[in-house]
Amino acid sequence: TKGSFLIKGGTVVGPTGASPADVLVDGETIAAVFAPGRGPADIETIDATGRYVIPGAVDAHTHMELPFGGTHASDTFDTGTRAAAFGGVTTIIDFAVQRYGEVVQDGLAAWHAKAEGNCHIDYGFHMILGGVTDDALKAMDQLVTDEGISSFKLFMAYPGVFYSDDGQILRAMQKARDNGAMIMMHAENGPAIDVLVKQALERGETDPIHHGLTRPQELEAEATSRAIWLAGVAADCPLYIVHLSASKALEQVAAARDQGRNVFAETCPQYLYLTLEDQLGAPGFEGAKWVCSTPLRSKHESHRADLWRGLRTNDLAVVSTDHCPFCMKDQKELGLGDFSKIPNGIGSVEHRVDLLYQGVVDGKLSLARWVETIATTPARMFGMYPRKGVIAPGSDADIVLYDPNGRTRISAATHHMNMDHSAWEGWEIDGKVDTVISRGTFVVQDGAYQGRKGHGRYVRRGLSDYLV
Ligand code: URP
Ligand code: ZN
Ligand code: ZN
Repeated sequence: TKGSFLIKGGTVVGPTGASPADVLVDGETIAAVFAPGRGPADIETIDATGRYVIPGAVDAHTHMELPFGGTHASDTFDTGTRAAAFGGVTTIIDFAVQRYGEVVQDGLAAWHAKAEGNCHIDYGFHMILGGVTDDALKAMDQLVTDEGISSFKLFMAYPGVFYSDDGQILRAMQKARDNGAMIMMHAENGPAIDVLVKQALERGETDPIHHGLTRPQELEAEATSRAIWLAGVAADCPLYIVHLSASKALEQVAAARDQGRNVFAETCPQYLYLTLEDQLGAPGFEGAKWVCSTPLRSKHESHRADLWRGLRTNDLAVVSTDHCPFCMKDQKELGLGDFSKIPNGIGSVEHRVDLLYQGVVDGKLSLARWVETIATTPARMFGMYPRKGVIAPGSDADIVLYDPNGRTRISAATHHMNMDHSAWEGWEIDGKVDTVISRGTFVVQDGAYQGRKGHGRYVRRGLSDYLV
């Protein structure tokens, strides 16, 4: 902690644009934003010349230690939040899990036990509901009122693991309509996918590429559409589609939004950049690195261009990572000879800020929209604004100095995530996280780590700003 200091000479970027300004930090919060040179003179200064001064990024979709496929996601809250900080992230929202048959509050307590004292940056939780029972519905009220958890994820995919049927989904949506919570939906038709998976395995199609081929975009679009219809039946309960990957699903969201519906969506860097063909071109079992759900889509269709457009038009409001890392050794390898046993997930919590900045350089996203989709909107969407997601007096001093002239090279040899590979191995991109400040404390300075396990605090969230 530095007490009070002035971040001087930089360009402050927010969702409404960029302008030169000096930012005064006092303790854990931002005290004032000054026109250049108008701040106090007798104070320690941090030179931000040539850099963007942006709100610390908020990753609203991570899975530290998620139990999946007989193993656990390989980042702990310690390793995962440290890696996140290196990547300019100052808040994550992780998914606490209620397993089938478990009391919701017990699942939440287990998640607090994993995170408490281990995080390098601030963190909040969404709750995955693994069973929409009468007790779980009551628990939804209690979590919103007492626990600072205002969003619940349901799965139309993964029968037997996290799946909820349409009746359960409708009941949870009705509850959310009553108590103001957001329903987050994993929109893929799981029972239909399971049929395709079984048929593929019976034909001897066992390689990782068949993961994607058995999850066609029609089954994402159908589930997205069904979730939107169900939310409508639940009096237009707020609905947020997670990890949207494909053009036809985006069409469903865009049509609902055009009708003024209370529907939002996020995408992830992997869908903006990577394709099924990257996976197809990988030798042997290497394609397992890119096994995630929803899956990567074909470069021969217009998915990536449509998703970038969706980010510009706000049909996609947020970019999150869906950070769910698994090592190849002993984890992804569980699916050798049977792609359906590969734990699903890609780890990118460290790279989202840089990967999306490349979109700015490539002319696909404005500077203001970059900040909005990675920081401001996730904070507003999930009830943390204006404490998080903005550089303004009274907000937490979560600030990133970003060097637009720097370069970032991504590799498993240098990343900080607990993964023995990278989905982005060898990628060289423009821009570099230079300095990261979390509640007034320097976590990364000039690229060097200064953070501390245990600095991160639990954030009790309010209701979404987007609730209507
Ligand atoms: O492949 C993924 N996305 N793994 C994490 C679990 C989920 O569905 O978000
Ligand atoms: Zn999911
Ligand atoms: Zn996820």
